[in-house]
Amino acid sequence: MKKRKLPTQIATSINYDRIQRESFLSCWFLSYCLLVSSAERFIIRSAGDAVRDIGDQELKSNLKLCFFQEAQHARSHHIFSERFFEFRPMLRMFVKMNDYLNYRIVEPLAPGRLKLSVAAAMEQLNAEIAYFGLQRLREISNEESFKQILSWHFVEEIEHREHIYDLMREKDVRQGAKVFGMMLVWWSFSFWITMGAVLISWPQFGVWRLCGRDLRKRGILSRLWRSAWRYCRKEYHPSVETLPPEFFIYQRRVKAFE
Ligand SMILES: [Fe+2]
Ligand SMILES: [Fe+2]
Repeated sequence: MKKRKLPTQIATSINYDRIQRESFLSCWFLSYCLLVSSAERFIIRSAGDAVRDIGDQELKSNLKLCFFQEAQHARSHHIFSERFFEFRPMLRMFVKMNDYLNYRIVEPLAPGRLKLSVAAAMEQLNAEIAYFGLQRLREISNEESFKQILSWHFVEEIEHREHIYDLMREKDVRQGAKVFGMMLVWWSFSFWITMGAVLISWPQFGVWRLCGRDLRKRGILSRLWRSAWRYCRKEYHPSVETLPPEFFIYQRRVKAFE
């Protein structure tokens, strides 16, 4: 795990109009970028609360780096989103609705351990989206800045994928809460990101019409489902996942941001 900062001009030089015309898959990843900033802040809040009283110093310093990476992602995606909302204000309303329901209404009602299990489940699905994204970056978009922001983010998601999980184990979160957290996150990720992609691609009927075929053929939702299924096994740990060769290729490329 490394500390890297994405140059601001990359997040501000993206041609959104081009991305939203490319395919439903590119709209899906654009939607992910708009929604993920609040999810990352939630991860920092819930894991930050839980980390205070743990004694494992190695885990503490890993989590510190993980929080640094997440804070950078949240910041760059926020800049990215604000520019996008300037010409698609309806999407700002959509993201605000997601933030209000999930983080203003539901979050304060949830007990600390459930929030931690939700954060760990988010990291699992973030890592799965990252595996998929790095393997199929060329299919997602031809927009260079968009590919740079995605590859930087995805490399770091894979690098820190297991630390929130380790914290959850350290805090003795039960199997039932772990599975329930994943059910909430799988549903929430699949629904909100896909709905966002539908709105982004609207009213480009050519892209919108192909949404079912695009998602089925490329298989992003079924990969999230399989990843959630593996995660729910009692003996599972994220470190058992095989890293795709693309991870090492892109990890060398994002060295420039260190
Ligand atoms: Fe992130
Ligand atoms: Fe993450």
